[in-house]
Amino acid sequence: MPMDVSTPLMISESSPSSWRKFPIKQQPDYPDQHKLEMVEKKLCGYPPLVFAQEIRDLKSNLAEIAAGRGLLLQAGDCAESFADFNANKIRDTFKVLLQMAVVLTFGGRRPVTKIARTAGQFAKPRSADMEEIEGVSLPSYRGDIINDAEFSPGARIPDPERMLEAYHQSASTLNLLRAFAQGGLADLHQVHQWNMSFVEASPARERYLKMSERIEDALGFMEVCGITSQTAPSIRETQLFTSHEALLLNYEEALSRIDSFTGRRYNCSAHFVWIGERTRQLDHAHVEFFKHIENPVGVKIGPDIEADELLRLIDALNPDNEAGRLTLIIRMGADKIADRLPALIRAVQSEERNLVWSSDPMHGNTIKASSGYKTRQFDNIMRELQQFFAVHQAEGSFPGGIHLEMTGEHVTECTGGAYAISDADLGTRYLTQCDPRLNGDQVLELAYLMADTLKPAKAGLE
Ligand code: PEP
Ligand code: CO
Repeated sequence: MPMDVSTPLMISESSPSSWRKFPIKQQPDYPDQHKLEMVEKKLCGYPPLVFAQEIRDLKSNLAEIAAGRGLLLQAGDCAESFADFNANKIRDTFKVLLQMAVVLTFGGRRPVTKIARTAGQFAKPRSADMEEIEGVSLPSYRGDIINDAEFSPGARIPDPERMLEAYHQSASTLNLLRAFAQGGLADLHQVHQWNMSFVEASPARERYLKMSERIEDALGFMEVCGITSQTAPSIRETQLFTSHEALLLNYEEALSRIDSFTGRRYNCSAHFVWIGERTRQLDHAHVEFFKHIENPVGVKIGPDIEADELLRLIDALNPDNEAGRLTLIIRMGADKIADRLPALIRAVQSEERNLVWSSDPMHGNTIKASSGYKTRQFDNIMRELQQFFAVHQAEGSFPGGIHLEMTGEHVTECTGGAYAISDADLGTRYLTQCDPRLNGDQVLELAYLMADTLKPAKAGLE
């Protein structure tokens, strides 16, 4: 279906360019404005990365989740990189996402909607504009779509042409993911076999074996009933959506398109986009931009927000109270969530706002290890997740999703887990561009532990 290419560089009150008139944080200072405009124009003419109907499908899945009839699993890289881009990495993350989803589907007895943090997760908010090393101060690295991580003056100059590379990398990532999802790699029997291999090798084998055997029995029963990979597409195929933090608005605007079916504007850089904790000010550019796209959107919520500010943010982003439009991604930290979350849930309930509650147990639990590495402890991640579920259960609210930074690679970036990664191990395979990610083993372990946590959530809402 053809799509009209909009003319986003013309600013009008209700256009995707209107964000340009608002204060904005966390943006690069491009030295060459002409080059920037050329790149934006080029991107405006490129094909959309995703199709509006897929975006609507995701929104209706999220509406089901908001009503307690599904679960959301959103996971992937902290930041994608141009240098470390290859098929194996995409495949391994895809596999682990599917493996987690099988365990969570079984544990939660609900369909799991999978959204990858990929095919566009290139721009990073930073805590400081400048980075200092041994007396030398340079602009911070802001993600490969903006500048280069290397600590040299030239590498840190923002270059608009990086947006084109990000677009092409996103297009080929999506291409492979679509092939994997439809081409046989997602077969439920195969995914279950990968899980069995994980469980067999795990130091916590005994703990997870029972659930794996029950899944095996369920698959066996279905097969006897004639529900097999050959007879049921839902056994051999899956749908995977993409997402990223829509931080660099020049890129996001240039990939927005009017859908010719509905006449509505979608951000076609991904199915789902979110606003970070540092850029969600009500009167700033990111909230403004999000008002002009129809996608399902997320917003990160830290421990310091008050209930009335949250309600104003909800109304700005979802004025029609449409189910599936808005996901609150809670990232408070294991020590704060039990104290801060209940008031927010009560406010949302008493104002009857429709939304998905999701837990990001990563960003409130980042610490600096004695070795100097930025890390996160597996136990704190679990503790935040478990409290997220417990608080929702206590308030009679539905904990719809989890949001993780992870990779299928064997990295050593977060400590703990059944393989007991220690501070001293961090240097062995510390590969992240930015924040520490759970590795494939840690993330599956988390899924098995979560499956137990989901049982009370299930009982409380049925
Ligand atoms: C992120 O998700 O990578 C991120 C920067 O999160 P937050 O905005 O919650 O800090
Ligand atoms: Co991060």
